[in-house]
Amino acid sequence: MVINLPKPNSQFAMKTPTTILAIVPFLLLYVSMADSDPIQDTLLQCLSNLSQPLSPPISSVTYFPNDSSYTPVLQSYIRNLRFSTPKTPKPSFIVTPTHVSHIQASILCSKIHTLQVRIRSGGHDYDGLSYISDVPFIIIDMFNLQSITVNIEDESAWVESGATLGEVYYRIAEQSKVHGYPAGVCPTVGVGGHLSGDWQGTMAE
Ligand SMILES: *[C@@H]1O[C@H](CO)[C@@H](O)[C@H](O)[C@H]1NC(C)=O
Ligand SMILES: *[C@@H]1O[C@H](CO)[C@@H](O)[C@H](O)[C@H]1NC(C)=O
Repeated sequence: MVINLPKPNSQFAMKTPTTILAIVPFLLLYVSMADSDPIQDTLLQCLSNLSQPLSPPISSVTYFPNDSSYTPVLQSYIRNLRFSTPKTPKPSFIVTPTHVSHIQASILCSKIHTLQVRIRSGGHDYDGLSYISDVPFIIIDMFNLQSITVNIEDESAWVESGATLGEVYYRIAEQSKVHGYPAGVCPTVGVGGHLSGDWQGTMAE
């Protein structure tokens, strides 16, 4: 809010203290409302109740709009900047799971509270389907789940959803000069969306 302060000699000078006094209670009210939102508290309790008490707890990887990390976490994997405007629909909260029970609790609590679940791995979908919706929604962002275990003996690899294609190629190349995995050519595409959705194979030298 921009407040135009009157010049000292202007006819409005006497009004300044009243204006400030009127604004201060408003700010106090606003701050105390931001501190405790009953719906957020219930959601957080639901997430804690339904996830395993493992470390880190789900509360430390859940971001509500009042958290300072909410916007950076939201924006970090928005690859289509058309969907990074003030008008873009925002999630009720974001969970960045570090183990499976965080995902289970997020899905169950979203169902209880009628929130749609959007799952984002690398955020590369051009329509923003992994991070926007026209109904109330949450984002489960998989970037913490990115481990890759390559087993050259049986020519297989176990890859978590948040790993990127480039990371997969790199880990395979570390172990073999003749093995590869045919997927996309853009290294920052997330494995989860690529393999569960539109994946195509290209082997290139
Ligand atoms: C955000 O809101 C939740 C729920 O009311 C609260 O538990 C949390 O402490 C708040 N976070 C900040 C940074 O104010
Ligand atoms: C969480 O669990 C506690 C203890 O069992 C219960 O009292 C509370 O209602 C639960 N809250 C939610 C939101 O599930």
